[in-house]
Amino acid sequence: MSAIRYELGSDQILTLTIDMPGQSANTMNGAFRDALSETVARVQSDLDTVRGIIITSAKKTFFAGGDLKELHKVSRADAKAFEDMVNGLKADMRALETCGKPVVAAINGAALGGGLELALACHHRVVLDNDAIQLGLPEVTLGLLPGGGGTQRLPRMIGLEAAFPLLMEGKKVNPKAALKAGLIDDLAESVDEMITKAREFIDANPKCQQPWDQKGFKLPGGAPHHPAMAQKLAIAPAMLRQKTKGCYPAPERILSAAVEGAQVDFDSGSLIETRYFAELVIGQVAKNMTGTFWFQLNDLKAGGSRPAGFDTETFSKVGILGAGMMGAGIAYSTATRGIDVVLKDVSVENAEKGKGYSEKLLAKKVSRGRMTEARKAETLARIQPTDSASDLEGCDLIIEAVFEDSGLKAKVTQEAEPKLVNNGIFASNTSTIPITQLAQASGKPENFIGLHFFSPVDKMQLVEIIVGAKTSDETLARAFDYVQQIGKIPIVVNDSRGFFTSRVFGTFVNEGISMLAEGIHPSSIENAGLFAGMPVGPLAISDEVSLTLMQHIRAQSKNDTEAAGGVWEPHPAEAVIDRMVDEQGRKGKAAGAGFYEYPENGKKHLWPGLDQLFVDNDKAHAVQLQDLKDRILFIQAIETVRCLEEGVLRNIEDANIGSIFGIGFAAWTGGAIQFINQYGVRAFTERASELAARYGERFTPPGLLVEKAEGNAAFV
Ligand code: NAI
Repeated sequence: MSAIRYELGSDQILTLTIDMPGQSANTMNGAFRDALSETVARVQSDLDTVRGIIITSAKKTFFAGGDLKELHKVSRADAKAFEDMVNGLKADMRALETCGKPVVAAINGAALGGGLELALACHHRVVLDNDAIQLGLPEVTLGLLPGGGGTQRLPRMIGLEAAFPLLMEGKKVNPKAALKAGLIDDLAESVDEMITKAREFIDANPKCQQPWDQKGFKLPGGAPHHPAMAQKLAIAPAMLRQKTKGCYPAPERILSAAVEGAQVDFDSGSLIETRYFAELVIGQVAKNMTGTFWFQLNDLKAGGSRPAGFDTETFSKVGILGAGMMGAGIAYSTATRGIDVVLKDVSVENAEKGKGYSEKLLAKKVSRGRMTEARKAETLARIQPTDSASDLEGCDLIIEAVFEDSGLKAKVTQEAEPKLVNNGIFASNTSTIPITQLAQASGKPENFIGLHFFSPVDKMQLVEIIVGAKTSDETLARAFDYVQQIGKIPIVVNDSRGFFTSRVFGTFVNEGISMLAEGIHPSSIENAGLFAGMPVGPLAISDEVSLTLMQHIRAQSKNDTEAAGGVWEPHPAEAVIDRMVDEQGRKGKAAGAGFYEYPENGKKHLWPGLDQLFVDNDKAHAVQLQDLKDRILFIQAIETVRCLEEGVLRNIEDANIGSIFGIGFAAWTGGAIQFINQYGVRAFTERASELAARYGERFTPPGLLVEKAEGNAAFV
């Protein structure tokens, strides 16, 4: 069976329905390329009888995009053959585009990557008007570029400037937004209306040629050499490099493909695009990103660390204790996925305020045309604010997000737990207190678990599920189902102070602060953090967390270590934090002063006092950025290996995904463990030993790493 159904109607309209056998979605693989080639040959021989062509899909989605499995395998040696293959595919798309007859894409579902590029090669695009449908060119988010003509057609359709966010940020849009952006031409309320509109276009346009194939075509918004455009383009590479720190080549290649392509005819531009595409496909960054964001993320979503043997649970009523920043966010993320929420705080007023947070976010969606008023009202009606524990009766799950105080947490657990349905789950969103300790207040510790959300909850996709000593596998499986039901990414960690994410994150922050203790200039430290790919420098983030909270967490850890008979090894960062708080009274951002100054009417900037207190000019001048950057990445990767070694983490997927989504570890590395693999386990271990000799034992390679290095094995 061909992947493309060929149906020439009595009205001489040819419908090409893409329906790839044995696949749930259409993808641009070998079977599709062969089918397209055969189809194009057949169209050419039938051209006299064909009045127009409609391309649609028999799947739920229109077309999912490129075949990442295939792309992931392409090696440097295959580059030429890969370019030929891509150019062959594009020549077939081009043959349809230039056949002279109108070609319409009738888009019945998501059209992403190569799928949208196929639609862009058509003369007209009608899309089913359904908010759940996504259109976009997300290749850049995997370190790739839209190599099926996207960097050439989109700028020719809507102009370079308008095309850049779609090409370089991989922004996905719904049909209404796509229409506004000029990505598509028309919307339809039903499949029948979509086909009718496609036919009407064909009737009205018996001959069709793309604007860029017509004489005198001018690039909308101005050609690259137009003075205003040239001025913007001149600074664009530098601006991009500031964002990518030269570590993430895809956006720069997209810029080059689009700008160079816009200065030549379409077919030459298409060849330029293929060359850049091949360069990215064979490069390490795309391998890291497709490996982690596609294969590992899909494994994780397909079950990951969820114990097998338990039916999938669907939650219908969730109780949330504490309507503060976290509770309000969890309520929003739960209610928007169709689950009833009871939001409890100490007063109805507090609980209402928590619900107000959802109202604000939903109103924003409505004002942007991304949600209807009716849907907003329906979602809000699902959140019941209360101050009474009896309203929690019948919840399948209760999540506690009250103040970080173990006494208070014990009290609310004992009050709320009896209201759960039989076998209901009680979860804590604690950020620092061990789950096993909190479970002591529970009458059913096997049903007690940690669900560690990140702030802001509506934006942060990761949830760290923490398994206490007595948590049952069934509870873990069901908690995993809840996280997936609300559309977030679950990683599973065993109980440990700081769990996984906070523990590794702490090493990043402390490493940055210890550089200050060594006399390194604060701006070099912040730069090193950014160049290592972290979203914020270690000093800025310390201010956000608050230096007093860091002191508090350290005191707790020290107590625990000593109570367990251990000896506390002070970190070089500690003395800096103590001087800042105890001597200088600079406690962090919330207190208005920390490593940074926060002027009321100006931009925050590093506190000049740091220079006098810490900077050693001899050191500050001798320091190498690469060294600082390595320290920031290595210390986190080493701590991640320790988490694997100690069984805090159960697998590599959780480590890689958790480090990117929870800590902000640079996405282009593919995550903390992939960073080690890419560096080479042996080379990484040698470099870690070198850092240990210079900066302290914290860099000493853990046994698991040494073992891998000796066996010359990667983490898989
Ligand atoms: P918050 O201070 O904004 O909110 C706490 C809420 O709990 C307040 O509204 C308070 O009135 C309410 N509350 C106090 N006693 C209560 C009781 N007996 N019954 C019901 N509600 C009660 O705190 P936030 O930031 O939302 O943190 C909550 C929990 O989440 C803490 O355990 C924190 O460690 C954890 N967490 C915080 C993160 C953050 O970024 N803020 C990130 C991850 C976890």
